[in-house]
Amino acid sequence: MKLNSGHEMPIVGYGTWPLKGAPATDAVLAAIESGYRLLDTASAYGNEDAVGAAVRQSGRPRDELFVTTKLRGSDQGRGSTRAGLEGSLERLGLDYVDLYLIHWPLPNVGKYVESYEEMAELRQAGLIRSLGVSNFLPEHLAAVTAATGIAPAVNQLQVSPSHARQELVSAVRSQGTVVQAWSPLERNSGVLEHPAVTAPAARLGVTPAQIVLRWLVRQDIAVVPHSANRDRQRTNADLFSFELTADETAAIDGIKQLPVKQDPATWEEF
Ligand SMILES: NC(=O)c1ccc[n+]([C@@H]2O[C@H](COP(=O)([O-])OP(=O)(O)OC[C@H]3O[C@@H](n4cnc5c(N)ncnc54)[C@H](OP(=O)(O)O)[C@@H]3O)[C@@H](O)[C@H]2O)c1
Repeated sequence: MKLNSGHEMPIVGYGTWPLKGAPATDAVLAAIESGYRLLDTASAYGNEDAVGAAVRQSGRPRDELFVTTKLRGSDQGRGSTRAGLEGSLERLGLDYVDLYLIHWPLPNVGKYVESYEEMAELRQAGLIRSLGVSNFLPEHLAAVTAATGIAPAVNQLQVSPSHARQELVSAVRSQGTVVQAWSPLERNSGVLEHPAVTAPAARLGVTPAQIVLRWLVRQDIAVVPHSANRDRQRTNADLFSFELTADETAAIDGIKQLPVKQDPATWEEF
């Protein structure tokens, strides 16, 4: 996908939460071998060191990989944003990240705008290729764009068939910001067992997860599914050899919508 920063981002990436240590390095290496080129990590996941080790062990040239990490709540603010990014780069063993996201807006803390302003300076300094955010509502996006004149390239949001969040997705995209779905498979929600998902999976001979991910990418929503399992990693990235019919798409659109458990207006994690 072309980002507003001028850089390109793979539409399918590999989510690394909740793995840590050697199992994380092994899983990320397997994902790279399966063809993933975008790796999604975060300071708060405690696995940047393991992801960095996999990047080095893969032997892939740096410019073939797209590495995303995130500013944790406790590092938000003037001065500490730079320190937060430098800590991430050190743990990753990289001298720049492709995409740096503010993990949560934490509007009650009130530091996300100054954090984004500092990120804009860090981009100028070459430590970040594209500026992004995560879990931002339209008012948070408007505030950072007004302060810097730079709309976030990406907003990573919880999006899946039972959390389609159509109004929010449209509002984000109207500003030229790409939506990237986290928890696209909605573990333990029953979405992968829903007949609107299992019926096209049976027709096409693919997994229910492939149907959910295909439903997202056909809407130009990027995805970062996680799997620790090599076979599921491979099938989760195989999304472009089949197509849903209009009726199948409409049936998935019709899945009952649920409220998000982590409302960005109030959710706090550090
Ligand atoms: N920005 C944020 O606030 C935020 C929040 C949460 C997550 N994230 C990012 O988004 C990524 C993905 O989210 P997530 O890990 O919560 O959820 P997810 O990718 O939707 O689901 C992962 C779960 O689904 C299982 N799974 C994977 N492929 C499957 C398949 N083909 N069939 C059946 N089950 C399958 C995995 O188990 P196995 O490992 O056994 O396959 C795992 O339990 C994270 O890794 C993280 O990078 C970001």
